[in-house]
Amino acid sequence: MDYFRIHGDSALRGTVEASGAKNASLPALAATVLSESPTTLRRVPHVADVRTMLQILGLLGADVSAAGSGTGGWRVSAPSSLRTEVPYELVKTMRASVLFLGPLVSRFGHVRISLPGGCAIGTRPIDFHLQGLQAMGAEVTLHKGFVEATARRLKGSRFRFEKKSVTGAENLMMAAALAEGTTVLENCAREPEVQDVGALLTSMGAKIDGLGTDTVTIEGVDELRGTDHEVISDRIEAGTYLLAGVMTGGKVTVRGARPDHMTAVLELLADLGAGVSAEADSVSASYDRPLTARDVHTAPYPGFPTDLQAQYMALATQVEGRTRIKEGIFESRFLHAAELSRLGARIDVAGSLATVHGATRLEGTEVMATDLRASACLVLAGLTASGVTTVNRIYHLDRGYENLEEKLKRLGGRIERHAGQ
Ligand code: EPZ
Repeated sequence: MDYFRIHGDSALRGTVEASGAKNASLPALAATVLSESPTTLRRVPHVADVRTMLQILGLLGADVSAAGSGTGGWRVSAPSSLRTEVPYELVKTMRASVLFLGPLVSRFGHVRISLPGGCAIGTRPIDFHLQGLQAMGAEVTLHKGFVEATARRLKGSRFRFEKKSVTGAENLMMAAALAEGTTVLENCAREPEVQDVGALLTSMGAKIDGLGTDTVTIEGVDELRGTDHEVISDRIEAGTYLLAGVMTGGKVTVRGARPDHMTAVLELLADLGAGVSAEADSVSASYDRPLTARDVHTAPYPGFPTDLQAQYMALATQVEGRTRIKEGIFESRFLHAAELSRLGARIDVAGSLATVHGATRLEGTEVMATDLRASACLVLAGLTASGVTTVNRIYHLDRGYENLEEKLKRLGGRIERHAGQ
């Protein structure tokens, strides 16, 4: 398995381009099965999870081709003969494949997909997805680790999410788009990625109101058409680079980012005492003076995103005083704390609260990535530590960060990828 060797003590300085959002691209690729005519998606990042989604589309029988070489463009059309069983061997590698549930049962009246396993950050149930489909009249059965949903035609329904769910909202919006009648989703996630899926569906002919609020109304139509859609930029990738710039004592600008999608992280950085600035389509953050410890509580959008929690924990190790980080979304998303401690960080974890005692001089050593965002946290720590840090199992990173090492090198980071032994 590949690993990174990172030489620390490098202040990151310069500008990088934001990629398209992984978490907008995955549901967008699933949404292409809603229409027989081709949909072109642009600015899709070249990351492993996207490749998995494209593989599933191909296996189902969709026609998939690159659109615009190298620009992250993909053209997908789903014939009426599309298969509706998603193979286990691909689902086990990526739980986001559950995003095929809604669109397949809505257009084809059937879907069979293996239940996603848990992962390093929690059990990751999909009960809200299934309850929503049942509310729309789908017959849902669970058998031998597979979930099967059938419906002659889904019917519009009112459904309230017990907790805000990003892919839950996306799945049920996609299902409702071709249902008979009107669906009202209450306590609906408002993430920019959810809004982007709504924008894609609207451009395919869906009738959706309330995007960006927690009540979304979808009036079902009989057919959706192909379209041409550019996915939004990746706010989590952009936030990762800003935190890296501040943590290493440098200054980073991310071009092509959406500051209006990053309010929570920009406000936190300013609150810490970092230099923060934003233009229409770029954001910058710099280390100007010693930072002030600031507690964080991760929450659904527009709160501080859980996907930046691990990266923030790495930065907190460099801040004088005590930083308390409350993980408000997942039940066990602190595995990176133990790895940071191997680098010399002092972190106490109790349930969903981690307390970071800074500032500590991190010393490079060998660490192991456990999930996508934990890997990013360890890379940031390695860039800051003295000496050399080896980050193992970086296949986690390859799932969601496009050209990570190239972008870090452009900022002056000393990072090399090595093929694993
Ligand atoms: C999406 O996951 C993202 N993934 C995650 O990003 C992100 O961390 C998460 O939203 C929260 O923002 C994609 O968009 C592909 P949820 P998702 O449903 O949709 C519970 C990354 O690093 N829940 O919003 O799976 C759940 O256990 C990944 O890019 C249920 O109980 O998350 C969690 O506690 C990691 N039942 C909370 O709700 C359900 O049916 C929020 O989960 C669904 C969710």
